[in-house]
Amino acid sequence: MSNAVLETRNLTYSFQDGRHRRTILEDVSSSFEKGKLYAIVGASGSGKTTFLSLIGALDSPESGEVLYVGKNIKEIGYEYYRRNIIGIVFQNYNLVQYMTAAENVMVAMGITDKKIEGNHQEYALKMLEKVGIDRKTASRTVNKLSGGEQQRVAIARALSTDVDIIMADEPTGNLDYDTSMNIVDIFLRLAHEMNKCVIIVTHDLSVAQKADVRLQLNPRTKSFETRKDSEKEKKPEEKKLSDVFYLVD
Ligand SMILES: Nc1ncnc2c1ncn2[C@@H]1O[C@H](COP(=O)(O)OP(=O)(O)O)[C@@H](O)[C@H]1O
Ligand SMILES: [Mg+2]
Repeated sequence: MSNAVLETRNLTYSFQDGRHRRTILEDVSSSFEKGKLYAIVGASGSGKTTFLSLIGALDSPESGEVLYVGKNIKEIGYEYYRRNIIGIVFQNYNLVQYMTAAENVMVAMGITDKKIEGNHQEYALKMLEKVGIDRKTASRTVNKLSGGEQQRVAIARALSTDVDIIMADEPTGNLDYDTSMNIVDIFLRLAHEMNKCVIIVTHDLSVAQKADVRLQLNPRTKSFETRKDSEKEKKPEEKKLSDVFYLVD
């Protein structure tokens, strides 16, 4: 019996490139559980963003399926899935610059179909507190915040609709090393303490190294590496980068 909250089955994606059809992803099968942080890694152009846009219902595959708790997201409805089931965090934060941090979170709360009980402002401040943004910072307009703070606000916004799955495309791409590590620690906490399924795309190995599971896109097979991680049971502190591969299909 699978514990997967999200699965892909034989996902294939290609596009017309002049006279040729170029395949980016081929037969990608994978499975993601709650309570874990996954890092999708691979060379530039290997299809990481494409994969994320398929599991994020921003684009549809040529063939194959994305399943949320066993149900095809097409049946759930892409828009419903995007609004109520997942939260997405982008490299450039995508916040409304002239609004405060708290207002940015509240805008997302207004879009979801979920009923959020109680005072929305208080709820937004609570979400921001979870990612280390205090009340004073929450009341400042976003254009006055640092990159690291803006990314925290974006994570709080993704969290605020009480989703199971948080996805992020190069969330530390614009941040320095220390700030990147702080952001990954937040993603780890979402997985380990709040039982979210967190999937991040990154080309930064120091970020990927902190993930529970690392999925490497192989440009030759156009799918994830299938090298078995025989050392999976090792204690986390004993894990080396090379040990963090995981069997996916
Ligand atoms: N619909 C499309 N039309 C044209 N080119 C595309 C399309 N989708 C993806 N690509 C190209 O496919 C390649 C892989 O893209 P991407 O998923 O962004 O890789 P990564 O995020 O790993 O760098 C890139 O060269 C991108 O420009
Ligand atoms: Mg990309």
